Amino acid sequence: MPPGLLTWTVCLCSLVRWYWQKEKREPYVKFMEANYPPGFSYEDFGPLFTAEFFDPNQWADILKASGAKYVVLTSKHHEGFTLWGSKYSWNWNAVDVGPKRDLVAELATSVRNRTDLHFGLYHSLFEWFNPLFLEDATNVFKTRKFPTSKSLPELYEIVTKYQPEIIWSDGNGNAPDTYWNSTGFLAWLYNDSPVRDTVVTNDRWGVGSICTHGGFYTCSDRYNPGHLLPHKWENCMTIDRRSWGYRRNAQLDDYLTIEDLVKQLVETVSCGGNLLMNVGPTHDGRIAVVFEERLRQMGAWLKVNGEAIYGTKPWRAQNDTVTPDVWYTFSPKEGKVNAVFLNWPVSGTLELGEPQAKLGETQVELVGYKELLKWVALGEKGIVIALPQLTPKQLPCQWGWTLQLTDIN
Ligand SMILES: *[C@@H]1O[C@H](CO)[C@@H](O)[C@H](O)[C@H]1NC(C)=O
Ligand SMILES: *[C@@H]1O[C@H](CO)[C@@H](O)[C@H](O)[C@H]1NC(C)=O
Ligand SMILES: *[C@@H]1O[C@H](CO)[C@@H](O)[C@H](O)[C@H]1NC(C)=O
Repeated sequence: MPPGLLTWTVCLCSLVRWYWQKEKREPYVKFMEANYPPGFSYEDFGPLFTAEFFDPNQWADILKASGAKYVVLTSKHHEGFTLWGSKYSWNWNAVDVGPKRDLVAELATSVRNRTDLHFGLYHSLFEWFNPLFLEDATNVFKTRKFPTSKSLPELYEIVTKYQPEIIWSDGNGNAPDTYWNSTGFLAWLYNDSPVRDTVVTNDRWGVGSICTHGGFYTCSDRYNPGHLLPHKWENCMTIDRRSWGYRRNAQLDDYLTIEDLVKQLVETVSCGGNLLMNVGPTHDGRIAVVFEERLRQMGAWLKVNGEAIYGTKPWRAQNDTVTPDVWYTFSPKEGKVNAVFLNWPVSGTLELGEPQAKLGETQVELVGYKELLKWVALGEKGIVIALPQLTPKQLPCQWGWTLQLTDIN
């Protein structure tokens, strides 16, 4: 799986329902009382999900501009509403209710037609309020009405219809993988399905599988361990610090800045992970401009610094031992070590504790700047690099810079 970013959680107010009706958290109960008529039910949100401004071509163009290599659309979250016209989600899907459009099909078509991104789908196994699931849970999962009539048919349906190259499974509902028949489904997916040669999957397939079994590990939401993992993993996080869905009442401070996001990306890739950066679209089908701006900024950064990200492998050290906020990757084809530094030093020189430079051999480049940089070795390990004297406007980019070092141990 290529290093990349990106997901959409297009769910209705899925988590809101849980906090409002199940946990009965005060702010949520009060918000519903204050803003919706008495007796308003969760199902009443269905027709309010209109997506009239949903333009899948525009979404595809924004995704492409972000530099992402794959996109994962939330096809169904824990509330059970499917964004495609599922045969198994009667009257609770985007074709019958709300948009009256197959949002999964439309985005898949646009992404494939206009970009090289891999198209993936998120799918929640369990559903918080589904009576069949609740019945199975009461039976301590000795009965399997819900997976056999809902989750599994849906999974086969989305794979066959949309041929996603990533299945991002979630929501085990505290049930074991045997309840979900995850191994049965995965055996079909990898051996017989139309995507058997290209598909990748994550690790959320039943109690105990997370961070232990799967194509790539997700471990927990916003997982960013800061050290190398021996297995491919993904940091799935959100640009809104507090929500996966769109919040009409979000404040500017609630959104991660592009500096925060570049740092997440660089830390993640240095430690062998991919970044999945979530944005929550609006009920009327838009990617809010604050999200669009972050995505385009990420793309602008990657345009200059992509060599430190795409197609790289972890180096022997992940971050520097002397200067904080310096993260390493390795470009195997070019044999170069990339050092991404997130703060431009006022002194004009950057000291790195990890690289062992070789006199007369090692070359140091600043990506986006034409001349080689001068450096001196520091004893056995370590190097001091003279950065070019540039005004902020002359810098090749903002938010983080890449040094490439050749012939380094
Ligand atoms: C694919 O893109 C081309 C060029 O942008 C357009 O003419 C064509 O209608 C698109 N096809 C579909 C199926 O959207
Ligand atoms: C699990 O799925 C496989 C593949 O579809 C199927 O052959 C098997 O019968 C299923 N097992 C159960 C217990 O449902
Ligand atoms: C390197 O990263 C680790 C993990 O995030 C951190 O604990 C350590 O302080 C970092 N080293 C430097 C010099 O910042």
